[in-house]
Amino acid sequence: MLKSLLMSAAGSLALMGAASAQDLEVASPDGELVVTLSTDGAGRPTYAVRFNGETVVEPSQLGMRFAEHPGFEEGLVLEEKDRAEADESWEQPWGERRIVENRHNELLVTFMDEEEERRRFDLRVRVFDDGLGFRYEVPKQRALRGEVAITDELTEFVLPEADTTAWWIPARMWNRYEYIYEETPLGDIHTVHTPVTFELGGGTHLSIHEAALVDYSGMSLTLGRGNRLEADLAPRADGPKVKLEAPFETPWRVVQVAQDAPGLINGTDIYLNLNEPNALGNVSWVEPGKYLGIWWGMHLGTQTWGSGPLHGATTENTKDVIDFAAEHGFSGVLVEGWNEGWDGDWYENGDVFSFTESYPDFDIEEVADYARQKGVRLIGHHETSGNITNYEEQMEAAYDLYERLGVAQVKTGYVADGGELKRVDEDGVAHYEYHDGQAAVAHHLTALREAAEREISINTHEPVKDTGLRRTYPNWISREGARGSEYDAWGQPPNPPEHTAILPYTRMLSGPMDYTPGIFKLRPEEGEGSPPAYPGGEPRPDVRTTLAKQLALYVVLYSPIQMAADLVEHYEEKPEPFQFIKDVPTDWEESIALQGEVGDYAVIARQRRGGEDWYLGAVTDEEGRALDVPLDFLEEGRSYTAEIYRDGEGADWESDPYAIAIERREVTAGDTLDLPLAPGGGAAVRLVPAEG
Ligand code: NOJ
Ligand code: CA
Repeated sequence: MLKSLLMSAAGSLALMGAASAQDLEVASPDGELVVTLSTDGAGRPTYAVRFNGETVVEPSQLGMRFAEHPGFEEGLVLEEKDRAEADESWEQPWGERRIVENRHNELLVTFMDEEEERRRFDLRVRVFDDGLGFRYEVPKQRALRGEVAITDELTEFVLPEADTTAWWIPARMWNRYEYIYEETPLGDIHTVHTPVTFELGGGTHLSIHEAALVDYSGMSLTLGRGNRLEADLAPRADGPKVKLEAPFETPWRVVQVAQDAPGLINGTDIYLNLNEPNALGNVSWVEPGKYLGIWWGMHLGTQTWGSGPLHGATTENTKDVIDFAAEHGFSGVLVEGWNEGWDGDWYENGDVFSFTESYPDFDIEEVADYARQKGVRLIGHHETSGNITNYEEQMEAAYDLYERLGVAQVKTGYVADGGELKRVDEDGVAHYEYHDGQAAVAHHLTALREAAEREISINTHEPVKDTGLRRTYPNWISREGARGSEYDAWGQPPNPPEHTAILPYTRMLSGPMDYTPGIFKLRPEEGEGSPPAYPGGEPRPDVRTTLAKQLALYVVLYSPIQMAADLVEHYEEKPEPFQFIKDVPTDWEESIALQGEVGDYAVIARQRRGGEDWYLGAVTDEEGRALDVPLDFLEEGRSYTAEIYRDGEGADWESDPYAIAIERREVTAGDTLDLPLAPGGGAAVRLVPAEG
């Protein structure tokens, strides 16, 4: 409090002393992270960031340009408007932790034209101990009358050049977010999606992303001159990046800052704190849980989505999976390929999908009844193949049907190349949009609101990236938005061993992912993947993990819904490791990233929500390693039984992926667990308090 008052005074003094450029500062509650706002000689608005005295973002430009209105690029003066601080906590309906702390200091400034009232925007800056966010708040003003078309947001992030490493996936490419991560020097990145993660020469870790992406286009970053990472908004089909009217607010531009890689994972509450509170009221109907599906067979090529002798979604097949789900305590069964429209090249079928008519060999009423009797829920599926208008036109009827059948969760899909989401306007003209463009952003919110009215949650595949909107819409229960297990069925190449040692520090920072782990059959069998199961797919490759690592993914890759993605018969063959999947919860009281390095390994511990048992997951890249994990997160003075599922003698993703050792040990908070991880391996541990 005192510190922020002092800084406020310094700011006002500067303002009184000099009519021209002056700096305003705001620091995090612990004082280590400091944001400075300024203008340069031409009146260009800038900001810079220091962490522990080190410059982590050099003076970087702010502003925006418009198609028909004067821009916010220069000729502006800076003035302080307000300061505030927050120190509170709030409870999540579900999440990585039940209680979220929101502690930050806020500075609100105006950048305005010297001829007052001609052009002005406010910048609201919030500085937390583990990162900062700022957003543009553009008031109604004479200079911005009528529809405003943003042609460029000028926000930059100028990072120190020396020895900065980046982990990134390309933006604006055909496969959306589904790329293998690259690790390169900062100077070698292209146009990249966020979150994009950096390690500076001195070891400080940064990740840049955004929060609360609503009525705007997603921000990618492109590398400009001199290591300037420049905001590069996804363009609309009709030209500009964004169209709106003043007053408006942009999403928050966020820089996470941490001393080490696990610090990034432990600092992600910033995204939730920068989003608006729950807008849906009582959401007890949003149900975390584990599910099975009529799914992997299609990816293997042994079943089909479309009709015919290999049709997966038959009444009979679904009942079998429901039986297995009921017997083993799963709450849901996903059924893909039940509805008309999959025949032909479904990748191109966006115009013909029906979301209410089922194939003749799938009796949706009977199956839903059967599931209900067994205490299992049917999980719905809507593949749009990227035609958002076809989906919106049927949305109410489709969700009504699911509501009537007791379906509480729907997986949606937007398989279409980047820039090819089809939106048809009132005049029947088709426009082709990006998955992270303003139209897609609006579409997802329409779906969430319609679904919420019927107490349905949405799990989006080929989504727009997560920006923490699950706080406002807790029925946005999960999403894909990176390469998941499906690539292990037909991807050429499949996910490399380091993929899941990069995701926790990149994609997962933004929120839950429906990765669909739990592949137990790690080698192709005769007949699989031939003909290719998926457009563009190839015969099935080897899965590049060990069996123990598949279990670890349930803890490492957070999602409130987790699939056991493999075929029922493959679980029946391996009941012992399957026990971990049955035991592991999906909703947490607390989560702690304990150890790791981006792209090398990750160790995460989580405590069951409302329970006392802990779960630990560790994954490594292609290198084997011997980890020592202190158990000091456990309650002191209490003894726990550790059920350890680790790579067995000789395990190696390449030569012996199945070797697994399952053992029990009594441990306390004072113990250190030694976990040997095989190349491409991992470990999963359940820690249950001993009786008494
Ligand atoms: C891509 C999704 O990621 C996958 O899970 C789904 O099976 C197919 N689309 C078909 O909808
Ligand atoms: Ca996908």
